Amino acid sequence: MTDVENPQQIQDEIKKICFEGAWAWIIEIVFWCLVACLIMYLIRRLVEGPFYRKPNRVDGKVVIVTGCNTGIGKETAMELARRGARLYMACRDAARCEAARLEIIEKTQNTNVFNRTLDLSSLSSVRQFAERFKAEEQKLDILVNNAGVMATPRKLTADGFEQQMGINHLGHFLLTNLLLDRLKAAAPSRVVVVSSAAYIFGSINKQDLMSEKSYSKFFGAYSQSKLANILFTRKLSEILKDSKVTVNCLHPGIVRTELMRYNSCPKTWNVIKRVIDIFIRSPKAGAQTSLFLSLDPKLECVSGGFYYNMLRFPVLPKAKDAEMAEWLWQESEKLVGLKQSMAAPVKKEENSEMETVKVVARED
Ligand SMILES: NC(=O)c1ccc[n+]([C@@H]2O[C@H](COP(=O)([O-])OP(=O)(O)OC[C@H]3O[C@@H](n4cnc5c(N)ncnc54)[C@H](OP(=O)(O)O)[C@@H]3O)[C@@H](O)[C@H]2O)c1
Repeated sequence: MTDVENPQQIQDEIKKICFEGAWAWIIEIVFWCLVACLIMYLIRRLVEGPFYRKPNRVDGKVVIVTGCNTGIGKETAMELARRGARLYMACRDAARCEAARLEIIEKTQNTNVFNRTLDLSSLSSVRQFAERFKAEEQKLDILVNNAGVMATPRKLTADGFEQQMGINHLGHFLLTNLLLDRLKAAAPSRVVVVSSAAYIFGSINKQDLMSEKSYSKFFGAYSQSKLANILFTRKLSEILKDSKVTVNCLHPGIVRTELMRYNSCPKTWNVIKRVIDIFIRSPKAGAQTSLFLSLDPKLECVSGGFYYNMLRFPVLPKAKDAEMAEWLWQESEKLVGLKQSMAAPVKKEENSEMETVKVVARED
């Protein structure tokens, strides 16, 4: 029998190269901790998704981000400011906006960051914001329609709209239309609309757009408003197809923000929440597709798309229903008091090139 074949000797050999007793335990624990960390790191990388890493800057470009005192909007604004934008922060709460503005200036060293009041639940506030902006700037390079509320108790806006439809869709609808001339003046320019995959659950309820007859806060009103965001994106991109103003929308992922503020969980859920949080994106990661659509040079002529994780995704038939998009556009115009849209392209008299008719806003 050779040395190696002797079981006792084999045991001794193993003992020589292995730790025993407490050391063995410590090493095993450290090993499994490292494995757990590695798995956690990989999960987080997966959950966070891709980051926009192209170094292109937007020095001097005029940008508006709505609802950017917190969450996804704040991170979007921060990065655009870091890249040199002349940034208009359009927020409903001036004090919260100011705190975020000072933080952005401190972190980016860009002093061209302005605090402007915009309450999307009031059409007169939207008009005032647009008026002031137009008095200050002759062009608008990037408009990020980010602000939103989710699953709120049923409440009406100042103009009597159900508030999720009013803020998420109608407020932004009016704002974008009022700023179209400035966007066209800056062409190539971009409109970025923050929608949500929650649109999948929604439908446009023609008979009860404001959920007067029945109200479901998430599967009804919120999802409807996010579907409206996509139909709006597609319709506007069609209207603007010859203008070099692009319009795209996105789902940011499931992101750890204040969006759930109207739906607090019982305190006993805190531990479960901590575990679930591992699978939820940071606001910075949630901002990446907004940044991609705002910044990527390769998207200069790309319009009408729905994006997630910086990739274009196909949408369900209800989100590309052209008839419904047209109906919603007409209805939205009536509701916000825009008399005439630029829906119909007209021919120039001197030559046969198509020109888009301007938006005409009517004061009610
Ligand atoms: N978080 C997610 O998982 C997720 C998923 C899909 C889509 N989204 C979309 O992402 C967008 C940003 O949401 P978030 O997650 O960053 O939520 P958030 O942290 O709650 O931020 C929402 C922002 O919108 C602002 N806002 C709300 N009502 C407004 C109004 N009437 N006028 C002007 N601004 C108003 C808020 O201002 P105040 O702070 O003053 O209230 C806040 O700045 C929303 O459109 C949301 O639907 C988020």
